[in-house]
Amino acid sequence: MPLVTSKEIITKGYHEGYAVGAFNAVNMETAQAIIGAATELRSPLIMQITQTTLKYTEFDELAAIAKVLIDRSGIPVALHLDHGRTYEVVMKCLKLGFSSVMIDGSLREDGKTPRTYEENIAITRKVIEPAHALGVTVEGEIGTLGQIGTTEAGALTDPDQAAQFVEDTGVDTLAVAIGTTHGLYRGKPFIDIERLKAIRAKVGIPLVLHGGTGTPDDSIRAAIQNGIAKINIDTFIRVAFYEAVGKVIDEARKQHEEADKKGEPRKYDIRKILAPAREAMKAAVEDRMKVFGSPGKV
Ligand code: G3H
Ligand code: ZN
Repeated sequence: MPLVTSKEIITKGYHEGYAVGAFNAVNMETAQAIIGAATELRSPLIMQITQTTLKYTEFDELAAIAKVLIDRSGIPVALHLDHGRTYEVVMKCLKLGFSSVMIDGSLREDGKTPRTYEENIAITRKVIEPAHALGVTVEGEIGTLGQIGTTEAGALTDPDQAAQFVEDTGVDTLAVAIGTTHGLYRGKPFIDIERLKAIRAKVGIPLVLHGGTGTPDDSIRAAIQNGIAKINIDTFIRVAFYEAVGKVIDEARKQHEEADKKGEPRKYDIRKILAPAREAMKAAVEDRMKVFGSPGKV
């Protein structure tokens, strides 16, 4: 199936009461795991690549892999830029045929310094025009998430400002800050569902939850009931990868010691490390999709 826009699949979830998972791919194995999970569960999917991944690999390589997998999958998949912070990176993704982009105007390119409301409006408007001309969905962000590894909320989204932002920019979906943080929490987070309700009452477009990892399942379900229709998950996949690789490497070390004792040559096979890691990541994605209610919604 060819690429779809994220607006198409998110809007369906928004009206039918489930959320589409947006999972981060960084290489072939993560992309295969994400698509594999969605295909098996017949779930709509957003595969996303975050701007900082540019430090690891050029997007054209990853986009080519993603497109082959998406074409073969037979399910609706959007290819999305996650946390795009500059006009240039959005243009790069439009050229590569992404069907969806996030312009995260809440922070500057360093990912730390807040932009003013006016700066956020300006950068968001700048990318909306070319993206919409190509039929590409645009996700904006208002408010900022808490810092990694804390339970402290960042600058939570103000409902009136969110409504004004949507009117001023014309974004298709809106990421809101309601108490989640990127990465693992230190303690139980407080997810401000009352704030979400107030945002939803004023903003007529589907809402996006970042920092999905570690957010309690009951909060996730309450968020979906109150307008969240896209949920971003990254760290949860990384944890599954680390745990699986750790086990395989431990086992390989034992086998190498045995081989040394017997005077036999040690065996090395990269695929024997990455295949179980890919399986573990796929299981992690399936686990989250079930909580989001998206299986069978193709
Ligand atoms: O944009 C990506 C995310 O918001 C993922 O957050 O690493 O806490 O799952 P996470
Ligand atoms: Zn995020």
